[in-house]
Amino acid sequence: MLLMKTRIESLLTQLTLEEKAALCSGQNNWSSQPIERLNIPSIYMTDGPHGLRREADDGFGNSLPATCFPTAACLASSWNTDLLTRVGEAIGKECQTQGVQILLGPGANIKRSPLNGRNFEYFSEDPIVSGEMAAALISGIQSQGVGTSLKHYVANNQEFERMSINAQVDERALREIYLAGFEIAVKKAQPYTLMCAYNKINGVFGSENTYLLHDILKKEWQYKGIVMSDWDAVHDRVAGIKAGLHLEMPGNEGVNDRKIIEAVRNGNLDESRLDEVLTEWLNIILTLQDAKQENATFNTKEHHQLAQEAASEGIVLLKNEANLLPLDTQKTASIAVIGQFSQQPRFQGSGSSRVIPTDVDNLFDSLSAQLPNGNLTYAAGYDKAHKVDDQLISEAVKTAQNSELAIICVGLPESFETEGIDRKHIKLPESHRTLVEQILKVQPNTIVILTNGSPVEMPWLNEASTVVEGWLFGQGGGAAMANILTGKINPSGKLTETFPIRLEDSPSFLHFPGTAKEVKYSEGIFVGYRYFEKKKIKPLFPFGHGLSYTTFEYSNLMVSNSKIADNGLLIVQFSITNTGKTTGKESAQLYIQDVESSIIRPEKELKHFAKIALAPNETKEIKFELNRRDFAFYDPISKSWKVEKGNFNLLIGASSTDIRLQKTIHIHTVHNQLPPLDQYSTIKEFLAHPVGQPLVQPIYEDLLAFATRSVPDDQPEKQQEIKQFFVYIFNDMPFYKIEAVSNGRISEAQLQEILAQL
Ligand code: BGC
Repeated sequence: MLLMKTRIESLLTQLTLEEKAALCSGQNNWSSQPIERLNIPSIYMTDGPHGLRREADDGFGNSLPATCFPTAACLASSWNTDLLTRVGEAIGKECQTQGVQILLGPGANIKRSPLNGRNFEYFSEDPIVSGEMAAALISGIQSQGVGTSLKHYVANNQEFERMSINAQVDERALREIYLAGFEIAVKKAQPYTLMCAYNKINGVFGSENTYLLHDILKKEWQYKGIVMSDWDAVHDRVAGIKAGLHLEMPGNEGVNDRKIIEAVRNGNLDESRLDEVLTEWLNIILTLQDAKQENATFNTKEHHQLAQEAASEGIVLLKNEANLLPLDTQKTASIAVIGQFSQQPRFQGSGSSRVIPTDVDNLFDSLSAQLPNGNLTYAAGYDKAHKVDDQLISEAVKTAQNSELAIICVGLPESFETEGIDRKHIKLPESHRTLVEQILKVQPNTIVILTNGSPVEMPWLNEASTVVEGWLFGQGGGAAMANILTGKINPSGKLTETFPIRLEDSPSFLHFPGTAKEVKYSEGIFVGYRYFEKKKIKPLFPFGHGLSYTTFEYSNLMVSNSKIADNGLLIVQFSITNTGKTTGKESAQLYIQDVESSIIRPEKELKHFAKIALAPNETKEIKFELNRRDFAFYDPISKSWKVEKGNFNLLIGASSTDIRLQKTIHIHTVHNQLPPLDQYSTIKEFLAHPVGQPLVQPIYEDLLAFATRSVPDDQPEKQQEIKQFFVYIFNDMPFYKIEAVSNGRISEAQLQEILAQL
């Protein structure tokens, strides 16, 4: 077989301009254009992200059954990257079996607001969690010779006007929050493709954004794959080619291909640029084609079990104050299971990610199978209409009253959260809320199980001793939930997003979803727990929270060095012991707090996490390697990641509010990029600059001496006072002003000379 490079070079010499343009777009909804005479195949792709939506060939838009794994919100709550890789491998196998070469996912967008209708498809409010989860899933899928499409790059954090809105994000927030997850996933897992966002980012559409596609993705991050458009996200096709958009999806019968041809012919687009785009795209096409397996199969049952396992790690035990859980199945003679979701679960979100499952478990049946005497009773509690139905509620109340314990399944119906629409509030439907409140009045032994892709408010929480977050837990979620309730599986999920008490407490409340075609990300870097902690707002449940049936003790925190240079490596180690009676899994979280900083920073930020399994009395050690970036913030002035000297606290927590161990380290030497200086830089900035300081110091002294010249020498205190006053004045003055404030004693030419020396 010819080397890839030679194959591509040879193809490029044979392709006509028309064929080159054709390769840059889809031939239909789900596949790229083939060039048959040169054996360039069409590449088949499909949604994603938590299972396949491969269209059947029946022409009715139906899709083939595939395993519906838990949605990203649930998967991420597992905090288990190995698990996500295994889920990815399974999805990759299903892709090979169904002839799919690119899976359109995962999504690494940040959960900026709980209202985003697509939050269920995203991992977290935190970029480290988003990036690590995306990387793990991508690695798994791509290990099977199938490509992924990391989406939607970037700042696609709402559905309102998603195709046209301009997301105004400051550079620091873009880098530290919105890009950081993509950066991790790209660098760690090199997805074969990346899907641009529909929206504009700081005035330029995602599909033609040179800064994002070329400068950051390709140059800075060294991305090797290709960029495809989100469906119909292309506006100016030629601008897209120039910026770094390889493939337009879906195809439009050559409408935009003709524009590419025309641009090359009239000199507006260099054919060599088109060749660059094609070199990268052909590399992916041929790689995927070589990796295609003709007779692939997968074991439906095994994948269903994996879906159950994944769900059981993502389900979060939020509250268990009365120790109702795990259920004492021997002692509890009668249990009322209430709510339609217990028999007809809502297990995935709506929109392009919808999967036709191979099988679906439901809680009621799964629980009955585990309980001794079939001692479950059922009441629907609400119906599909979601209006309060007094009859259904009173039946449910009676059922709960006549049992020793009630399990209520409530949550958000499909109409409340879906791709294409944002929520307007975070309330449960009236019928579900009323049901919970009525049952809690009559049955203190009540377990509330939630089904939702994003946080809901819980005005009844004080009355409820036991709450379990089930998310949209995929086709195996019903059985997973039953296993958690009975204690067959010890819950180990933790929240990857903060639950606010009320919507008004959420960081973007005043600026979501924007108006007049623009949404301002005014909260900046203060997204999720970064906001709640800084503003000291108590959340309903904090980031990282999740309970277990056992207890864990953290001990023995050690760092390889207590004083380091920022470019050194720091090893952090500690131990966790299972101090309870049940085997369980714990996710430990490492946060860093910059004790003193010249600019505003979050109280602390998550940097590393790990999940381990422990038998009772077992102890395991966790080790993290910290690097410069873990301590840095993005400095928009020097356009680089900056670390400041001083103390940093390393905080090891079971959640963001449950910090168990702490150590302070000191950074004594930093290697920051020097900020650029120009005539508008302040004198203070010159004085803080190693090259600028010696050049400006003499002039500065001269200015101060001149300013205090009229105070007699025998009044040193007065002199000091006036000098201090002028220090304040001069420090914030732009450099070019020196000519004027020195009354011309320091000439423009002298200042130009200094600038030239820089
Ligand atoms: C969605 C993408 C999806 C694509 C194809 C778009 O509307 O935003 O996430 O992959 O459709 O279905």
